[in-house]
Amino acid sequence: MSAAPMLEIIDVTAGFGAVTVLHGVSMVVPAGSIAGVFGLNGAGKSVTMKTIGGVVPVRSGRVLLDGEDVTTLSPEQRVARGMGHVPQGRQVFPGLSVEDNLRLGAYTLRRRRRARYAASLERTYSQFPVLRERRHQLAGTMSGGQQASLSVARALINEPRLILVDEPSAGLSPVAQLELRAVLEVVRQTGVTMVLVEQNVAFGLSLVDTAHLLQTGRVVHSAPVASLDNDTLATHLGIGRVLAGATGSALLARKRGTS
Ligand SMILES: Nc1ncnc2c1ncn2[C@@H]1O[C@H](COP(=O)(O)OP(=O)(O)OP(=O)(O)O)[C@@H](O)[C@H]1O
Ligand SMILES: [Mg+2]
Repeated sequence: MSAAPMLEIIDVTAGFGAVTVLHGVSMVVPAGSIAGVFGLNGAGKSVTMKTIGGVVPVRSGRVLLDGEDVTTLSPEQRVARGMGHVPQGRQVFPGLSVEDNLRLGAYTLRRRRRARYAASLERTYSQFPVLRERRHQLAGTMSGGQQASLSVARALINEPRLILVDEPSAGLSPVAQLELRAVLEVVRQTGVTMVLVEQNVAFGLSLVDTAHLLQTGRVVHSAPVASLDNDTLATHLGIGRVLAGATGSALLARKRGTS
């Protein structure tokens, strides 16, 4: 077993043209943990995810995956080394069956270790029985919650070590959010490391181990959820969003260990 954190971002700067968006972002994500990234619109959450995935190049700083420097690797090379993506908006192929969506997701696995695909598909179906039941259904005809489950399962089928999940709860009904939460709990139990970006702070706090608060491209606060308090969240994320009952309750539940 490796002693290195699963992911380490060291003093990363990144931007577009003359604009610098990330001003030295650092983050350590221990293996098997869930790191939450929270911040207001435009704070740089998605750009941070994209520098981890290699979609946006870093201008300075480093990205380490399980101790290996992947800073200059392409997105495909990072996927081959065990990064998985659950993209914003879920991006399932609506006109394809559930199983074909999973097959496409398993592209890199089938290329590297073809024999493992059948086993990985079987494991995925046992983890998410609703996908087995609906394996011949067109993905676009499933509910939002089921599509969210499919998008997470599609990332897991490649057997990643780290998955990057950007705003998974967006646009989901409260019931569908519960469904998604159960799916992400399954991910936690399988020991896959996760970076989770969430606008829905209450939803995010109910899942993550550590919260990183991002403000205009800087991490202004990093702490285990158990040591976060409402004032800190309110200062960095805006009073209105945080004092909303749901966020406070989620925080309290995590501190009490009831969630
Ligand atoms: N491709 C791009 N070209 C130019 N600027 C960009 C690009 N992508 C993002 N930005 C800028 O970078 C900043 C951070 O964007 P980012 O998408 O990371 O925000 P975010 O924290 O994810 O916000 P949201 O909560 O709205 O998703 C914004 O000012 C945005 O306009
Ligand atoms: Mg975003």
